Amino acid sequence: MDKRIKKSIETLKIISEPCEFGTQRQSYTEAYKEGAVYVKRTMEEYGLNVHVDGIGNVTGTLIGTKPDLPKIISGSHLDTVLCAGAFDGIAGVVCAMEVAKLIVDSNNPLRHTYQVIGMVGEEGTRFGKALLGSQFIAGIYSEKQLHKFRGSEDNKTMYDAMIEYGLSGDISNVSKKDEKVKAFIEIHGEQGPVLEKEQKMIGVVESIVGLSWLKISVIGQTNHSGTVPMDYRKDAAIGAYNLILNMNEYVCTNYTGKATITEGKIQLSPNSLNSIPGYCDFTLDIRSGEEEIIVDILNKLDEFKNEVKRKCRVEIVVDEQTRKKPILMDKHLKNILDEQCAKMGYASMRINSGAGHDSMVFAEMWKTAMIFLATKNGISHNPDEWIDYKDMVAGAKVLYELIRKLDEGD
Ligand code: HGY
Ligand code: MN
Ligand code: MN
Repeated sequence: MDKRIKKSIETLKIISEPCEFGTQRQSYTEAYKEGAVYVKRTMEEYGLNVHVDGIGNVTGTLIGTKPDLPKIISGSHLDTVLCAGAFDGIAGVVCAMEVAKLIVDSNNPLRHTYQVIGMVGEEGTRFGKALLGSQFIAGIYSEKQLHKFRGSEDNKTMYDAMIEYGLSGDISNVSKKDEKVKAFIEIHGEQGPVLEKEQKMIGVVESIVGLSWLKISVIGQTNHSGTVPMDYRKDAAIGAYNLILNMNEYVCTNYTGKATITEGKIQLSPNSLNSIPGYCDFTLDIRSGEEEIIVDILNKLDEFKNEVKRKCRVEIVVDEQTRKKPILMDKHLKNILDEQCAKMGYASMRINSGAGHDSMVFAEMWKTAMIFLATKNGISHNPDEWIDYKDMVAGAKVLYELIRKLDEGD
């Protein structure tokens, strides 16, 4: 199995759109398509029936001997952040495919149908909205959003990007909200240092962090950098920096260890040396395992926004792009995972996820669990991201045993 996993990861690692460094497959790009085709072909090779749904999720199916029973689903996302590593998302799809191979090779088919899903748009990199594939599968997003969501770089609607990608635009086959699903389980790198530090092979995820992703536009007045006195200018950049530093200071002082805030993207306009910036767009990524902390930080943002507007003579528009509450993984599945790991001799521990995942969407509607694997030096969203192939084998075997156990019941 480890050789197949290595081949998949190393093949996909070099399937990338041009980028400064690392691997990059944003939704609906040529590179994304090439990666999705590789996954599709591997699923077919393993004996799954494969279909690509209306928004580009790739689903492989092993029909169970009792097809009327609820499905058991595993998977993760196929897209990446900018300048990414080779494991985030795709490791979960590869492991889920390996579980399918174990089932087929066992000549002992499941009673439940087993599905592997490679999802589009989890990272939100292209359209600014996270968890796209899973939110369309969950029926949270529908036709309306296709024409509303636009690429942050090319301003193209998700619908137009899908059509260019070769999809029909008909998304009637995407939602699974009315389907009977027994469990959704996602394997994913921890993307942090804990498992490695604690020398654990498997992380059984307790809960997934809540988040608020904001796009903030500061509007001032573009003007000459040399002629406008400091107390007259409406400098959008200074407004943005004030807001960013105030927010960062507030979270560090009050919520270190309980919340995070990140200003990942910032753009000035006209972005020229001798013009006062009239516009500044930036993003805030606010996360906490406690919903009330996120609410408090958002209230503080409102307060600081009004202060900065007065102090810097600018306008400020806050647009929330994605909002998810913290969510617990299924208790019963977590307990089975604990037992399986102990039985299989894999050191494991419970762990909370500071990263968002498609599982946080499915946990609102299906029994959901996540299996974390150690990430070397806790690095992710970085070309140095690394998961040992032996850990991916262990993750796949734990998932296989969990599915066998679930398959005993109806
Ligand atoms: O942003 C996240 O937590 C994930 O990588 N999408
Ligand atoms: Mn990610
Ligand atoms: Mn991910």
